Amino acid sequence: MNSPAATTTSNALARDVSRRRTFAIISHPDAGKTTLTEKLLLFGGAIQMAGTVKARKSSRHATSDWMEVEKQRGISVTSSVMQFAYPPGPAGQTINLLDTPGHEDFSEDTYRVLTAVDAAVMVIDAAKGVEAQTIKLLEVCRLRNTPIITFVNKMDREVREPVDILEEIESVLKIDCAPVTWPIGMGKAFRGVYHLLTDRLQRFTPGEEKRSADGELIEGLDNPRLDELFPDEVKHLRENVELIRGASVPFDLTRFLAGTQSPVFFGSGINNFGVQEILQALLDWAPPPQPREATREDAGTRMVEATEPPFTGFVFKIQANMDPRHRDRIAFLRVCSGRYQSGMKVHHVRLGREMKLANAITFMANERVASDDAVAGDIIGIHNHGQLQIGDTLTEGESLRFKGIPYFAPELFNLARPKDPFKAKQLQKGLKELGEEGAVQVFDPGTGNSILLGAVGPLQFEIVAQRLQSEYKVDAVYDAANLYAARWLTFPDDNTRRKFENDEASRMAKDIDDNPVYLAPNRVNLQLTMERWPNVSFHAIREHGQRMEHA
Ligand code: G4P
Repeated sequence: MNSPAATTTSNALARDVSRRRTFAIISHPDAGKTTLTEKLLLFGGAIQMAGTVKARKSSRHATSDWMEVEKQRGISVTSSVMQFAYPPGPAGQTINLLDTPGHEDFSEDTYRVLTAVDAAVMVIDAAKGVEAQTIKLLEVCRLRNTPIITFVNKMDREVREPVDILEEIESVLKIDCAPVTWPIGMGKAFRGVYHLLTDRLQRFTPGEEKRSADGELIEGLDNPRLDELFPDEVKHLRENVELIRGASVPFDLTRFLAGTQSPVFFGSGINNFGVQEILQALLDWAPPPQPREATREDAGTRMVEATEPPFTGFVFKIQANMDPRHRDRIAFLRVCSGRYQSGMKVHHVRLGREMKLANAITFMANERVASDDAVAGDIIGIHNHGQLQIGDTLTEGESLRFKGIPYFAPELFNLARPKDPFKAKQLQKGLKELGEEGAVQVFDPGTGNSILLGAVGPLQFEIVAQRLQSEYKVDAVYDAANLYAARWLTFPDDNTRRKFENDEASRMAKDIDDNPVYLAPNRVNLQLTMERWPNVSFHAIREHGQRMEHA
């Protein structure tokens, strides 16, 4: 039987875990992610003034500025994870909002951040509907059935019919929509939203800086106040709400948690309208830190529960250049179970050795609340001098590896070679380290001095070039590689593997974990090769640290 002290400790852990909500905002550029982030922080009391996040975004527009910002120790670390209490104050829940770079600096980072959250808020521009990057990001969320809350933004503009938007989300993103609020009008005639679950109309007043809790709420569709306020529109409003209530599927918490249905809210981020409803939905419906599947040493798997007392966590992001003098990097670790305490000793599973976690950074966007412990759902930043890689698991002794941190097959390719041939070694070393850090994917095509770089976003190349110069003192020449796609390969047996590698030698490369990769010059080639080798599997995704086993 557990001692009373142990029971108290595990009760405290369970209580703290149940109060966590960890999420990210996903959107196509310009849909309103920055604006919404800022308003969420404003409502959470984490920032006092609008403009803080926005200023940071504009300073990141140009690559060089971005690098400068990165160099300012601490700035980007604290803004990559924003923790705040909602409702503000000690009684509130702890919300962790993870930033996903979404603009010119869109890269693999975004994908990995999504492996560290338990829910996502998807922002859709009501005029534009579902856009390209939303589709990509939602695919990633689907890999883990992440629950999605949808915010249809910019209702203060002339936008598309709400029904059309829902239909588009359902057909393009293949996720069912359950409207929770329904907009009354749009643009200049935007009157507010009708909450289908609480039966209340929330009146829209443009430009309100911070909506107070007792802002105008009108109870019930029959309320005469509606006739008074909107004499010309009230009939249409009532019909519309009845119609949508009859025609739409009701919100179903189980389906939301399974990632198959998304509650939809309409609003206007810039006007603070509909923002509190998103926070409330996160509190009421988004899941607390979820169990995570991990592979054990004996190749079995087990679910690690968030409330297990032993500490575990995995690294999902590495941020470099926090302090250029020390080539210092911060590894972002998502705590999956137990409690982080400053100075604790942990087991570094990949290296098989002990490591002390001193001076890890915990994130509290509101400085007034100091926090030096962290539980499941929280993120800690660990100073890293190369010992930690993306995908690494830390535990209190158990040999576990958390699953599901993806490498995506790159879509852009460059060949790098040193300007000065005597610097080939430095180039190799630099690229190996940057590859381990996840800044870019590095392949060895086995053709002498050139190293093949693969990326998901073009800015990845620029950052790598700058970092090679400033950190490794190598100038490299980059030639566009005429490639369409890379695919990781698994083979049914060694014979097939040898034959494939022999026949397709000129199209083969190795990734940094020595996995065989097929490089396709164009789509047709990829298709034909796949048809020619029906027994060979071509993978567009692999997990970090994973050796591709034979099928
Ligand atoms: P992003 O991070 O997803 O890229 O979007 P961001 O929040 O930066 O918003 C993109 C543009 O959309 C911004 O305008 C922003 O002000 C505007 N916007 C965001 N929410 C709303 C809304 O609810 N209604 C309306 N009408 N506009 C909204 P911008 O002109 O690019 O920037 P700025 O000049 O306003 O700073």
